[in-house]
Amino acid sequence: MTIADDIKQRLDIVDVVSGYAPNLRRAGRNFAAPCPFHDERTPSFYVFPDRQSWRCFGACATGGDVLSFVMRAEKLEFKDALRLLAERAGVSLAEARRDDPQRNALYRVNDAAQALFQDALRGQQGIAARAYLQGRGIDADAARRFGLGLSPSSGNALMEHLTALGFAREQVIEAGLATRGGDLPSRDMFLGRVMVPIHDGQGNLAGFGGRSLDGSEPKYLNSPRTPVFDKGRILYLFHRARKAIREQGEAVIVEGYMDAIAAHMHGYENVVASMGTALTQEQVSILKGAAKKFIMALDADAAGQQATFRSLRDSWGVFQQAFQGNAELSLRVLVVPAGKDPDEYIRANPKEWGRLTSEAQNILDYLLASLPRFWDITTSQGKAQAAEEVKALINKMGNAFDQDTYFRKLAQALGVSLETLEAAIGKPGAQARGGQGRRAVAGRDVSSGVFEQKRRDLLEEHFLGMLLRWPELRGRVQELDPHCLSAWEDRQVFTEWMHCSTMEELTERLEGELRPRAEHLLTLALPPMDLRQREQAIVDCFHRLEERRLRAMKEEEALLLTQAQPGEGQQEGKPQSLDDLSSQAIATNQALRQLFLTKSLKHRRGQES
Ligand code: UTP
Ligand code: MN
Repeated sequence: MTIADDIKQRLDIVDVVSGYAPNLRRAGRNFAAPCPFHDERTPSFYVFPDRQSWRCFGACATGGDVLSFVMRAEKLEFKDALRLLAERAGVSLAEARRDDPQRNALYRVNDAAQALFQDALRGQQGIAARAYLQGRGIDADAARRFGLGLSPSSGNALMEHLTALGFAREQVIEAGLATRGGDLPSRDMFLGRVMVPIHDGQGNLAGFGGRSLDGSEPKYLNSPRTPVFDKGRILYLFHRARKAIREQGEAVIVEGYMDAIAAHMHGYENVVASMGTALTQEQVSILKGAAKKFIMALDADAAGQQATFRSLRDSWGVFQQAFQGNAELSLRVLVVPAGKDPDEYIRANPKEWGRLTSEAQNILDYLLASLPRFWDITTSQGKAQAAEEVKALINKMGNAFDQDTYFRKLAQALGVSLETLEAAIGKPGAQARGGQGRRAVAGRDVSSGVFEQKRRDLLEEHFLGMLLRWPELRGRVQELDPHCLSAWEDRQVFTEWMHCSTMEELTERLEGELRPRAEHLLTLALPPMDLRQREQAIVDCFHRLEERRLRAMKEEEALLLTQAQPGEGQQEGKPQSLDDLSSQAIATNQALRQLFLTKSLKHRRGQES
């Protein structure tokens, strides 16, 4: 029996469907309702308990089993629908996956390592680490609850311990607990760090984050990517938060391990941590199975930063994509006051966190309010840039009412009339929605043309086209910051591709709009080139992308610098420090100069050979 069969056997389709079709009524042996997938008065939607199937005899003219129903009702892909139903049926997908001997072995190595880490924290060598945790409000009991530990600080104590327990060296290395070595001898990955175990959604111990105690860099060293650990596919503490998230219908996303721990310790159990990066497609699809309302918590010092703006903008895209215009999606931003991060705030004011979350601001309102920080919206050029930026966001909204509302708010934020805004940049979504406008208004339909409508970026397309066609070039662009790519779909394709070995694997990993995007990129015409020319071409693109990004940063910084002059009124939050800004601007300049040097050096070499 497959897992899907097992799950289906445990569920009653009538039960599941009635959650989506409240008017489901008995009709003889079967049940009938107005179809939940289209508008109708007379019921043409039937559920057949005997066969555990459903069918719409009306406009949809489709049917299937409980899985296909949930896929349709929730707009989920098969595996996500399966996950959702598995949870409902109380079946652990992980149990099924534990049958995979390789994964199973890695979980067991991790479990054994964690046991050692926990012992070390409790023992003699743990004195300083315990004091450190105590200082952060984490006593022995909390350390136990969250499974915290301490990695021994000598070179290969963990390896020795694990091999003595019978694990193969190779397994320990594969679990990311020791370096592979190569020319050097292998040694433990984590030395003298406070160890935070990271579980996947099913509660398997997938990897670790290790915090340095002595200020050494990186502050957190995380497990490398392994067959069971991928930071971008896990949300820290989700396995403990899922229940609360479901019950409350709302999830709060913080950045750090300690933020999430502090929240849980103080009874806010619907909190997960993104582990410091912008939310990925996978992380959002994990959340999507549990709630429709989300709050992203920002440190006060992150609130004014461009990186935050970009990261919020990207997260917005990923959420819109995942929810396909479902009007129930709510995405809000919470700025932690008083220069604190959530961890510090919650510990200082445990009672206030609930109020903060209830006052979180809609993300678009938040972004609109922060526009003046990023563009000089007193000039028409700045207005145009800001308008384009926000228009792209509004375009991603699947609901025409919302689009309209925010288009008006945008006009207001820029201090121009709606007519002027429309004349300047056109009305968002109008072109894409076209004749389907009314369906979009009905709520769940996303305007499918939204992405086609976007301006094409030829440099970016060419770059990705080459990279997909000639995977061996990836080694040349390892260092590329994904933010050099302006379309978030492209960033996603790029990031995934850097981690995949085959095209099949890539398409398997990509969801929704992204798959056709990758396919499109792969079919782009490319001139014939030999290996050297390809390498040359990809490096050229890389440099041009980087240059473009640095130039954009430079422009933004110049704008910010003019705005940050003393006397200028600041928006909420603390004023961007002039010193920080100037040193940032200097760094950007240096990076640009470095880039030119590299380019001209390479050029000269190219001429010599
Ligand atoms: P922060 O730099 O905000 O750290 O990174 P923090 O969570 O406040 O750390 P503490 O409170 O000083 O211990 C937020 C998150 O980003 C990831 C971690 O998940 C961290 O919790 N991160 C940060 C890393 O993975 N590596 C790093 O070097 C830094
Ligand atoms: Mn912190």
